[in-house]
Amino acid sequence: MTTSFPPGFRWGVATSAFQIEGATTEDGRGPSIWDTFAAVPGTVAGGDTGEPAAEHYHRWPQDLALLTGLGVDAYRFSVSWPRVQPAGRGRVERRGLDFYRRLVEGLREKGIEPFLTLYHWDLPQALEDEGGWRSRDTAHRFADYAALVHAELGDLVDHWTTLNEPYPCAVAGYGEGRHAPGAKEGHGALAAAHHLLLGHGLAVQAMRGQAAPGHRFGVVLNQSPAVPVTESAADKAAAARQDTLLRRQFTDPLFGGRYAPGLTAMFGAASDFSFRHDGDLATIGVPLDYLGVNYYYRLHVADAPPREPDPARRTAADIGVDTTRLPDVPRTGMGWPVEPEGLTEALVALHNGYPDLPPVYVTENGCVYPDRSDFADYERISFLSDHLAAVRDALNAGVDLRGYFAWSLLDNFEWAHGYKHRFGLVHVDYTTQRRTPRASYRWYRDFVAAQR
Ligand code: FCB
Repeated sequence: MTTSFPPGFRWGVATSAFQIEGATTEDGRGPSIWDTFAAVPGTVAGGDTGEPAAEHYHRWPQDLALLTGLGVDAYRFSVSWPRVQPAGRGRVERRGLDFYRRLVEGLREKGIEPFLTLYHWDLPQALEDEGGWRSRDTAHRFADYAALVHAELGDLVDHWTTLNEPYPCAVAGYGEGRHAPGAKEGHGALAAAHHLLLGHGLAVQAMRGQAAPGHRFGVVLNQSPAVPVTESAADKAAAARQDTLLRRQFTDPLFGGRYAPGLTAMFGAASDFSFRHDGDLATIGVPLDYLGVNYYYRLHVADAPPREPDPARRTAADIGVDTTRLPDVPRTGMGWPVEPEGLTEALVALHNGYPDLPPVYVTENGCVYPDRSDFADYERISFLSDHLAAVRDALNAGVDLRGYFAWSLLDNFEWAHGYKHRFGLVHVDYTTQRRTPRASYRWYRDFVAAQR
């Protein structure tokens, strides 16, 4: 058993464009689906929108200083598609690209490795108006956008992630309607999942065709192991359905050379899978240099009747499961069960399930707790410390892990929860935009320094 991390293991923090940048109408940025969605009353808690977020678009030099103070090796951030290509196709907005160039130049000067994500949920609204991810054309537009950003920033960025978490994009966005664009569909959400994967494969192919040696290409998936609440056959089958929808729908085509068995049967005649074309599997399964895993919680699954009795009208999330029966374990401030062993389990399951799995990074992991006046967030420190022990357990179990990114550097726009829930190692006062490092910031800084 080793208690240390391997040499070269990368330590980082993560953010995403829409959650921190603000400046949603500046310098020619086009609207994204999250601007449109958040403007609809009742969609985001408190009526919050992408403004002001953490005003990172203007305050990035200060945030770069926070990264430097933290002593991280790597910074995972995303590029806003509508900031660099306002309509999702065609015209490129130079001012948007220049912003990201200044940021990655700044990171390089400080010796921080940029890990760039091309899509963290902010689809240009103009593409949604043409069908969004339901439409196969969006996959091609994504590949064009990826190639253009890669051509512009490839001299400074080696790590290129296509998608962040296609599962919520497809299922929360097009199935449950909890995320932008707010659709509640069956077929649309399953088509969206497929086209996100296709877009990923096409984007990797386009970027590889023009890549420099040393460029690395990957994708980021959220993983939430599905645990049956009892040993009954029905609950086990429900957990298997949940696992198919959330995980295998993505991991099987990406790393297993097949569509997830069982997915079509779950939807049966109610869904038409004709969006799968010959050759798509080979495109989606393009070999990757790394996989990013985001982990927050396990799902505890019981069998339950579908909410909509008519299969033809069922949404993609309505698969006959109840995930509300949580075990008696501590919860975060968002009510999520704290189960660090789930991270080890998720990593080991990928390692055991896919012989061709590329090296893995934990690309997000973090939590929310109510603040004390002095920002002494002991709960976050123990959450991170226990999850880092779980990462070590996965290393000891043989998983090829290369790094860990805490979510998040800063408090930010937590999607449908708005600004209410704060994931930052650094507190942000949204009125003054004052940044105050929490105790966890200093703890992580010292932890990272002690690994060197
Ligand atoms: C993940 C998202 C990230 C953040 C965390 C809490 O699903 O990728 O943007 O919201 O959850």
